[in-house]
Amino acid sequence: MTATDGPPLDDHQYTVAGLKSYEAIYGRDFVSPGGRQTTKEILARLTWPEGHRVLDVGCGLGGAAFMMASKHGASVLGIDLSHNMVDEATRRCGDYGLADQVTMDHGDVLSYVFPHTFDLIHSREVFLHIHDKAGLFSTLHGALRDGGKLVFTDYCCGGEVPSETFSAYVQEFGYDLRTVEEIGELLSQAGFGQVQAVDQTQEFIDIHYRELDALALTALTPDEQAELRVGWLAKIERAEQGEQRWGWFEALR
Ligand SMILES: C[S@@+](CC[C@H](N)C(=O)[O-])C[C@H]1O[C@@H](n2cnc3c(N)ncnc32)[C@H](O)[C@@H]1O
Repeated sequence: MTATDGPPLDDHQYTVAGLKSYEAIYGRDFVSPGGRQTTKEILARLTWPEGHRVLDVGCGLGGAAFMMASKHGASVLGIDLSHNMVDEATRRCGDYGLADQVTMDHGDVLSYVFPHTFDLIHSREVFLHIHDKAGLFSTLHGALRDGGKLVFTDYCCGGEVPSETFSAYVQEFGYDLRTVEEIGELLSQAGFGQVQAVDQTQEFIDIHYRELDALALTALTPDEQAELRVGWLAKIERAEQGEQRWGWFEALR
């Protein structure tokens, strides 16, 4: 079993061509809903003492890590299971002159040996890939200093019995989706306090409509645009039907 219990990420969801498409719709350096703007809003709600030590789990192409370093003065370790992501993020880190503040490393969050504890752990759209949620949250709890904060967004599911279409979608990508409430409970069980687990599905829908509107302005070919349009419309439909949900979470060690 791999950490993700799904298809190998570099050969399936995060191929070099796939990343080009994702970035075209999410914006440069981002592979998650709302891209730069949503990450900017999430980070703006946090406090940023000088030299904050941050772990970005599943850093992807590095957009959040670069923002935390350049806008908030953080020192960031970004780890990711995909070589395609880490190789490209490392190259960009150098291009942006952030190598002193940001380190990118290949690794699985479940087995990674952290060099020290962190003030903040950030993650966006990563935990959907990880089936051992109890192990994940226990690992993250152990990687934070006392009083440190965990903040993340993630795909979730509704509480009803899933339709065949939804089950097939989850299976295709090897996801493990829980309800927003279940994630909140798992965080508490892992020892986190002041847990906030908020359903932001309507915002997810709004973001996806905005991204669809902007699709025609991208440099993607008509075929590439058509493929993304199908995927985005399907996500909107699943979310409007309540089967796919989007959660925002914050918790303290
Ligand atoms: C949807 S992308 C999000 C990337 C980035 N967080 C962003 O917002 O642009 C999900 C990322 O999680 C990474 N990932 C999945 N499972 C992981 C694991 N067990 N440990 C570390 N990274 C993982 C994938 O390789 C991928 O880069």
